[in-house]
Amino acid sequence: MISSVLPIASALLIFGASEALAFTNSATDNLAVYWGQNSYGATHSSDTANWQQNLSYYCQDDTIDAIPMAFLDVFFGTGGEPSLDLANICNVNDDAVFPGTQLPDCSFLASDIETCQSKGKIVTMSLGGATGSNTFSNDSQASAFAQTIWDLLLGGSSSTRPFGSAVLDGIDLDIEGGSTSYYTTFVSTLRSLMNSGSKTYYITGAPQCPFPDAYLGSIINAEGFDAIYVQFYNNYCGLQNYDDSNDWNFGTWDNWAKNTSPNPNVKVYIGAPASSTAAGSGYVDVATLGSIAQATKANYSSFGGIMLWDASQAYANGRFDEGIKSYLTGGTAAPTSTVSSTSTTTTAPTSTTPTSTSTTPTSATSTTTASTGSCGSVAAWVANVAYTSGDQVLYDGDLWTANQWNYAETPGESGAWDDDGPCASVAAKAGSVKAAAYSMLTTTAFSRTKSTPEPMKVVVPVVQTNVPAKHSRFFKFD
Ligand SMILES: *[C@@H]1O[C@H](CO)[C@@H](O)[C@H](O)[C@H]1NC(C)=O
Ligand SMILES: *[C@@H]1O[C@H](CO)[C@@H](O)[C@H](O)[C@H]1NC(C)=O
Ligand SMILES: *[C@@H]1O[C@H](CO)[C@@H](O)[C@H](O)[C@H]1NC(C)=O
Repeated sequence: MISSVLPIASALLIFGASEALAFTNSATDNLAVYWGQNSYGATHSSDTANWQQNLSYYCQDDTIDAIPMAFLDVFFGTGGEPSLDLANICNVNDDAVFPGTQLPDCSFLASDIETCQSKGKIVTMSLGGATGSNTFSNDSQASAFAQTIWDLLLGGSSSTRPFGSAVLDGIDLDIEGGSTSYYTTFVSTLRSLMNSGSKTYYITGAPQCPFPDAYLGSIINAEGFDAIYVQFYNNYCGLQNYDDSNDWNFGTWDNWAKNTSPNPNVKVYIGAPASSTAAGSGYVDVATLGSIAQATKANYSSFGGIMLWDASQAYANGRFDEGIKSYLTGGTAAPTSTVSSTSTTTTAPTSTTPTSTSTTPTSATSTTTASTGSCGSVAAWVANVAYTSGDQVLYDGDLWTANQWNYAETPGESGAWDDDGPCASVAAKAGSVKAAAYSMLTTTAFSRTKSTPEPMKVVVPVVQTNVPAKHSRFFKFD
């Protein structure tokens, strides 16, 4: 009796379990949490115990539903290939790069990604970030880049897949600088490739709350997105001003979702800082955010859930993620409470220009010394490497020494670099990247030191310093 029932019961159990596990884009209780930039570590450099962990650490329970990895910050880098930065977990300093590129080999994360996916979570790659100023010159370049993203991260194939055999679930666009020309071609080409794939892929975007978003606005109006993670922080329309109907504008985004978006079923998330150190303004405690989420969910059918920046901050802040998830799943009744804010900062949408991101606070230490004239084995400057005071690089034929921590600040254009003058014999070493002091390097399969001389100047996009003023989710804390 028992033996004949058991197979049916276990079959039902397995079926039921897999049903419950699958990510559901149309749900209204999803929690999307960015991972990759170790935001906690960037603001708490000595508390290394709470720094960002490997991805699967955040997939041990049912709290988080979607994990955008931040960021693929360079579209066209060395060798014409993209580059990405996952701070203390994987970066061009500490990990091998694919030959002839500045694309780090993060394939040790493939099993982490697959573990998260097996638990019904989606893992996507976020393109851009606050330092990103990646531009397309024409439609053919934009559609070729869609093919690159498909081949490197999604259902295509390539010998330079940064996450190895893991097939990500989609991409997120976090464009906070540069021109957005031809991005619609990129998105539509990528969507076509996704539609030809063997699983469901997702395209999300992270506009800032002022409507319309200066960068993503025209893109999300033209192409159907699955969800948008609106950054309700670092701006006047942030969560700190929820009680002021002149500022709080979720209704505007809901109206956009239903009447402008090519996908009328696009879900709109409230993007929130996961702790007071995760953003300049907009942090509210978990009970406050919970009641805002419940009121918004009850009022607007486009509401899809909460987005948090970022995983490291949420875990260090008493599992903020777990707290807010329980509000999301805890029914739709909206307690009418007066929202209190822990931040009183009201920031106009256009005031300051972000200067750079806070990425990993532990830039690798240069293991080389050089002197003007020979320049020894000093490596070429690379845009997406963090440098600390005293670090030396080659750029434009000169030796440069950093006088402060900096990231994506071009020698000659930024005051962060002192020009030590021209190098006499740099050609043989130019093109090799900054040496790192981590022993992990020696165990990796790919050498970051190029065996053949390369042109002097590393061809990577340079951060614009005169973009329209925008607040970013990053702040330089030094
Ligand atoms: C992440 O995983 C890699 C590979 O297993 C390991 O070498 C590394 O120490 C881990 N990083 C952290 C922060 O746990
Ligand atoms: C598109 O832009 C790329 C990069 O600037 C360039 O190499 C290519 O020739 C351009 N193609 C066309 C058709 O203009
Ligand atoms: C509900 O939506 C209406 C229309 O946008 C708005 O006026 C009202 O403030 C909203 N209430 C809440 C609690 O969001």
